[in-house]
Amino acid sequence: MDLIDSYLTANGPRFVSDLIAYARFPSVSAQPQHAGDLVACAGWLADRCRAIGLTTVVHPTSGNPIIVAKTPGHDPKKPTFVVYGHYDVQPPEPFELWDSPPFEPVVKGRDVFGRGISDNKGQHLAHLNAAEAWLRSGRELPCNLTFLIEGEEEVGSTALYGFLPAHKAGLACDAVVISDNGIPTLKHPALTYALRGIAAMEVRLDGPARDLHSGIFGGSVENPAMALCQLLGKMRDAKGRITVPGYYDDVVKLSAYERRQLAKLPSDPERYRRFLGVPQLFGEAGFTHEEQRSARPTFEINGLTSGYQGDGSKTIIPSWASAKLTLRLVPDQKPAKVIKAVTAHLKKLCPPSVKLTVTPGHGGAPYLVSPKSPFAQAALRALRSGFGHEAILTREGGSIPIVSAFKQHLKADTLLLGMALPDDNPHSPNEKFSLDAYASGMRMSAHLWPELAAAAGK
Ligand code: BES
Ligand code: ZN
Repeated sequence: MDLIDSYLTANGPRFVSDLIAYARFPSVSAQPQHAGDLVACAGWLADRCRAIGLTTVVHPTSGNPIIVAKTPGHDPKKPTFVVYGHYDVQPPEPFELWDSPPFEPVVKGRDVFGRGISDNKGQHLAHLNAAEAWLRSGRELPCNLTFLIEGEEEVGSTALYGFLPAHKAGLACDAVVISDNGIPTLKHPALTYALRGIAAMEVRLDGPARDLHSGIFGGSVENPAMALCQLLGKMRDAKGRITVPGYYDDVVKLSAYERRQLAKLPSDPERYRRFLGVPQLFGEAGFTHEEQRSARPTFEINGLTSGYQGDGSKTIIPSWASAKLTLRLVPDQKPAKVIKAVTAHLKKLCPPSVKLTVTPGHGGAPYLVSPKSPFAQAALRALRSGFGHEAILTREGGSIPIVSAFKQHLKADTLLLGMALPDDNPHSPNEKFSLDAYASGMRMSAHLWPELAAAAGK
């Protein structure tokens, strides 16, 4: 491995300029005006894949292109691993909260700032760089690698859901590797063995046929905004428990082993409180904040809309009010079942003075894989080699719904090997990626392939 490690070190500065070039593309999948930027970004990545010797195809889709890039000379005697990532990024707004423009990446100390730099460009680029090190240093990779990089992860991976069953022969593999998540600190590299799922929905209450004068009519007619606040307020009690009947029925209890693992995380509630900028921490009673944010389900309001939002005041009773919700789910909760239970509860509690409409949105199942499997153990060893510290086991609160589709269509488990740090600000202003995490991530990836190949026992 020395040859490969020194290749990575020697090429470190170029890998940083590549990352900066990649993060300059405003590949915002949610915003139609960036469609061309997504195509250009995919083109840049495909060129990079070809430059390191991967056989690369850019597949057009109904949405953004999907890139499939393979190590040359597929050897059926060797195991195959798919590395998944996404080149699309979240919208950068609000611009005024960024210290530097989101698509003009800058290095400050040991961090690079830019939208999408850790979620997810830097993390899959680290894997590509490690593959380059193997291919260029003339060492024979002990496995076949297939890079699968899509451009719609941040908006639900629509094209990829269709692409997977249609291309499952070309994507056949022994396991999938994803680095699109985080680790607690650089000294605590982690294998993430569980992710939360998600169920999205919109709730709308319609009241009077038009906005009304609140002085002339107020008191004699329901205010939909007030009714929505009261209705949603009943969904969670003061102790942070969701009150929807049956909500917790399928929740698998944390084992004593898992609770001990999670307790190993460097956790300091007061530091966490300051980091979040809240006057007091809040969470479901009886669980640590690490457990609350990774192993317990939630009911979140992501957006509330009603009435007048402009300057000054406008004395009206709004005609309608609506809320965008997402519920984070844990194993073995099912998005459709949870949406049904929530809808029934909303219907039961909604006052007859307004009309309720519930529109279900996207959903993704939670994910859980055994941390004791030979692949998981191999990954823990690679994390140790890459980061220079003993690796731990974590669960994460975010969702990567496509992992369930990998299991369904490719029959493969996913190893989640994050490189992002808790203060990387994904989906927020001033997103960043640590250059130390980038370098350690490349080393981890380089060491991963012999470890996984040995564990596959082919
Ligand atoms: N990289 C994240 C998911 C993630 C973040 C997993 C942190 C684990 C820890 C991904 O890009 C993302 O943001 N996913 C969305 C999915 C949703 C839109 C279906 C999420 O979790 O909100
Ligand atoms: Zn994201």
